[in-house]
Amino acid sequence: MSTFKAPKGTYDLLPPDSAKFLAVREAIAAPLRGSGYGYIETPGFENVELFARGVGESTDIVTKEMYAFETKGGDRLALRPEGTASVLRAALEANLHKAGNLPVKLWYSGSYYRYERPQKGRYRHFSQVGAEAIGAEDPALDAELIILADQAYRSLGLRNFRILLNSLGDKECRPVYREALQTFLRGLDLDEDTLRRAEINPLRVLDDKRESVQKQLGGAPLLRDYLCDACKAYHEEVRELVTAAGVVFEDDPKLVRGLDYYTRTTFEFVHDGLGSQSAVGGGGRYDGLSEMIGGPALPSVGWALGVDRTVLALEAEGVELELPATTSVFAVPLGDEARRVLFAKVTELRKNGVAADFAFGGKGLKAAMKAANRSGARYALVLGERDIEQGVVQLKDMESGEQTAVGMNEIVAELESRLG
Ligand code: HAM
Repeated sequence: MSTFKAPKGTYDLLPPDSAKFLAVREAIAAPLRGSGYGYIETPGFENVELFARGVGESTDIVTKEMYAFETKGGDRLALRPEGTASVLRAALEANLHKAGNLPVKLWYSGSYYRYERPQKGRYRHFSQVGAEAIGAEDPALDAELIILADQAYRSLGLRNFRILLNSLGDKECRPVYREALQTFLRGLDLDEDTLRRAEINPLRVLDDKRESVQKQLGGAPLLRDYLCDACKAYHEEVRELVTAAGVVFEDDPKLVRGLDYYTRTTFEFVHDGLGSQSAVGGGGRYDGLSEMIGGPALPSVGWALGVDRTVLALEAEGVELELPATTSVFAVPLGDEARRVLFAKVTELRKNGVAADFAFGGKGLKAAMKAANRSGARYALVLGERDIEQGVVQLKDMESGEQTAVGMNEIVAELESRLG
């Protein structure tokens, strides 16, 4: 072992498990690619103000969890805690919204950083695949995103997840609700910190996990009862479109998300096999975010699904992903001359699209066959001195154990036809 370990709250992705992560990312991306979302990549860090303004000054993410630092040049940066603010910043910077085709639909995949208290399913470095549809106010767009996430999870074989749906209202009705909620909260027996939070962001108090707080929230006013007519109609249409697609959801009038930019539609995907870190994904509409970061009015909606938690959810359900075999053919040379000849064959096989590996390091037959077994290869190619003289190579079927001599010039075609 080296002197160093992965930093607290992080872990390494190693084979063979790492293949699951690739497969999950791919499964989430596939329905997006098929629905007009283009791939975007943004830097791993941004101006810290982007997140402070975008995600919200009073959120846990900004006040406690950001990896913020000053560069040698004096810039105040932060490792990205989430993707939405960066993606919108990038779209605005490149004027994608002016190209005439709204909404701008983008998807991304990458690492995010939050200085959280680590536990199973909650890490300081984690991975998301996300989607953002920028510049359109259309309930069908909200519905599309919910349906695509559902499709992604189902394509992986996940079943025990639930979709929670709520509307957080807009700049017309939310302030009225906010006041009503504040009045209610001021009347409760809450500690100083929570009372302060009630003044800055009362909705967040609804999300307080402590039982002493939850116990008092029973009679809290619900945003549902304060939605303006436009928000009500919008929400109703999202619900109808999602239902018409056969996607089941639960109305959750208490769902508030941990980021401040949400308006109207908000949703979360929760998995019941994950204990306290049950949210495998979440998102919603953020109609005011563009203006908050200095852009024009661009109503938008999006989500991000957590790759780490999706993998944990698959494990909790006992779902085995069908992962493609990494190596089909494993080549075992016996001697120097055989090494040169067989290495050239392996290169040729690879050029022809056959996944092939080689017994490196001058192993003897026994150790090399062990390596062939471990590789999971369907076939082994063994080449000894006598085979070279006869112009053949031994082709061993690793499942049946059957071995046949095949002409050196025929072996590539033979393997291609056997592997289909
Ligand atoms: P979020 O709910 O903060 O939303 O994160 C989305 C998902 O990322 C979570 O549901 C969870 O699966 C995963 N996640 C978050 N924090 C951690 C962590 N510390 N460890 C492991 N997994 C984690 C957002 O990030 C928004 N940007 C989503 C969005 C996109 N809204 C609109 N567009």
